[in-house]
Amino acid sequence: MPARHRNIVPGFPHLLHGGDWNPDQWLDRPEVIEQDHQLMSEAGVNALSVGIFAWAALEPEEGRYEFAWLDAILDRLAKDGRKAILATPSGSKPAWMSLKYPEVRRMHNGVREPHHTRHNHCYTAPVYRAKVAAINRALAERYARHPALGAWHLSNEYGGDCQCPLCWDAFRAWLQRRHGSLAELNRAWYTAFWGHTFSAWAEVNALDRTMHAMTLDWRRFVSDQTADFIRAEAAPLRRLTPQIPLTTNFMGTYPGLDYHRLAQELDFISWDAYPDWHPAGGDDLDTAAHTGFNHDLMRGCGGGKPWVLMESTPSSVNWKKLSRPKQPGMHRAASLQAVGHGSEGVLYFQWRKGRGCSEKFHGAVVDHDGRSDHRVFREVAALGATLGRLGAAVGAPVVAQAAVLYDWDVAWAIDEGQMQRNCDKDYIATAMDHHRPLWRRGIAVDVVSQRADLARYRLVVAPMALLLHPGVAERLESFVRAGGVLVATYLTGQVDHNDQCFLGGFPGPLRALFGVRAPEMDTPPDHVVQTLAPTAAGTALGLSGSYPTRHFDELLVAEDAEVLATYAHEWYAGTPAVTRRTVGAGEAWYIGARGDRRLADDVVGGIAARLGLERALDLPLPEGVAAQARGTGADRLVFVENFAGAPRTLALGPGWRDAESGAPLAELALARYDARVLARA
Ligand code: GLA
Ligand code: ZN
Repeated sequence: MPARHRNIVPGFPHLLHGGDWNPDQWLDRPEVIEQDHQLMSEAGVNALSVGIFAWAALEPEEGRYEFAWLDAILDRLAKDGRKAILATPSGSKPAWMSLKYPEVRRMHNGVREPHHTRHNHCYTAPVYRAKVAAINRALAERYARHPALGAWHLSNEYGGDCQCPLCWDAFRAWLQRRHGSLAELNRAWYTAFWGHTFSAWAEVNALDRTMHAMTLDWRRFVSDQTADFIRAEAAPLRRLTPQIPLTTNFMGTYPGLDYHRLAQELDFISWDAYPDWHPAGGDDLDTAAHTGFNHDLMRGCGGGKPWVLMESTPSSVNWKKLSRPKQPGMHRAASLQAVGHGSEGVLYFQWRKGRGCSEKFHGAVVDHDGRSDHRVFREVAALGATLGRLGAAVGAPVVAQAAVLYDWDVAWAIDEGQMQRNCDKDYIATAMDHHRPLWRRGIAVDVVSQRADLARYRLVVAPMALLLHPGVAERLESFVRAGGVLVATYLTGQVDHNDQCFLGGFPGPLRALFGVRAPEMDTPPDHVVQTLAPTAAGTALGLSGSYPTRHFDELLVAEDAEVLATYAHEWYAGTPAVTRRTVGAGEAWYIGARGDRRLADDVVGGIAARLGLERALDLPLPEGVAAQARGTGADRLVFVENFAGAPRTLALGPGWRDAESGAPLAELALARYDARVLARA
């Protein structure tokens, strides 16, 4: 990990502040655009994502480009010292194209979609790829040396699939590359089941959800084909503007695409975070913990490098059943949380509310009244000033000694798998629950895939790793032998990458490493909460009292492992539920039941404490206070937010100052939603 990463926007050593701006909706109202430029200065905005859905404005007729309006926008941004994150417009195709070239529209169940909404182009159709390449080339040629060009924003939120004949042809070609022969495909897909053996490639022509390996391959293909589309989109940009980095905006745990795969095509990761602040019946602390996980997952997709919060709302959204405005202070807290987790800035959807259509009531920095004296604008402007004072954060790394494994293949296998329990499977929530003990202690965590290099970590937590990619078991074993601590849970090591069960007992190839076997599993109904009890060995390692379990109880046989807890209920009372095996210099823990948050906290938090994993602050954080560090040594910055819903105080002791004001800080009094950045004194 370098002491400091390079600036995301070359030659622009500032945290980014700004967001999606659609001047193409206001071309007949130049006074509104002029007002925007002025308000941007007032809000301390330095980066705008422009042109995201502007294809119809840029190419109103086939082959006739209209760049004058965009020239004026970029010229003015440059004059005002701002950067454009210039979008390629492929997220929304013009109507003339849909009519003239029907194959650009997606197809499902044999029916082609009409021209409507957005994000619904076929990613295989050669004509669409050619049109995208042409407009991208024209944009790159025109703006290659424009001083406002800071980064490329490829399309918008790639997602979904298309099942047109072209996509099916591409899928079959992909399968031939992956499996080599039809005989191999039949083997990999276990087609003997229900007599589904294929005798010709042409027979592979419809998705069958009962064939899990097929649907897994389909999802992998959709990711690969989207990545291939991205590569084609990016080609003219890479050729004409090699110095300009490119990204596209991800969506956290969005299930439709394997972001680990897509990340390989990008120079930096960016994502759109719309946490459920002030949730009905919940609390902000849960939301903050989940958001911390998502930030860590997105950073993990980029190999741990800084990333960008590409969209967030300054107030509310308009697409949830209920969306309340962020309460005073929450905007600053949520934004600094993102920067603490490695974001190189804070960008919004959207700079100004549009007048019509489906997002006219979505929160924005500038409302329909065009005023800068209302609360939302003021909080945004104050954050702009704060980010302006935090130049020291730019490029500062997040150094994590712990990792949580999260994989899209696992998510898909769990989702598709018809199991003993087909409700409350909750892979994402379980991953979050095992990330939280670290997060709440201010310990940096990378959320990474099974294929990541684990050597840099001391603790790896692998929740519900149902599917194991080839070689992963061996790599986990070397990680442990070399001194790492590995924690796995119920539903580990059951299927291979073709979604076929491992023979010889679960957790499959990890059976020897954990020294356990899980021959049976109980799946009590939702309302049945049972308990497990620590053994003396478990108590010695910090387990205490009794822990409720729900949903999944694996009945473990400890073949070669210490038993740390056993079930205290049902006919399997006394059966091992939590085990540990010391292996080489490390340890392999197995949690066979879905315990409560306290169990995850006692296990994962206990291990972190024993290993002495580095914390953002060397003190116990009061409940509800989050802290994350960026940078190392004297350059270290600590981002602290209070999500508790009540005031909190931290006794910091000597050696700290407020990074914004420079004032020394021995005690930190945080009002509700307060957020501060600390630097070494
Ligand atoms: C997404 C899109 C934006 C906008 C916002 C609204 O993130 O990328 O264009 O629709 O949602 O929250
Ligand atoms: Zn298609």
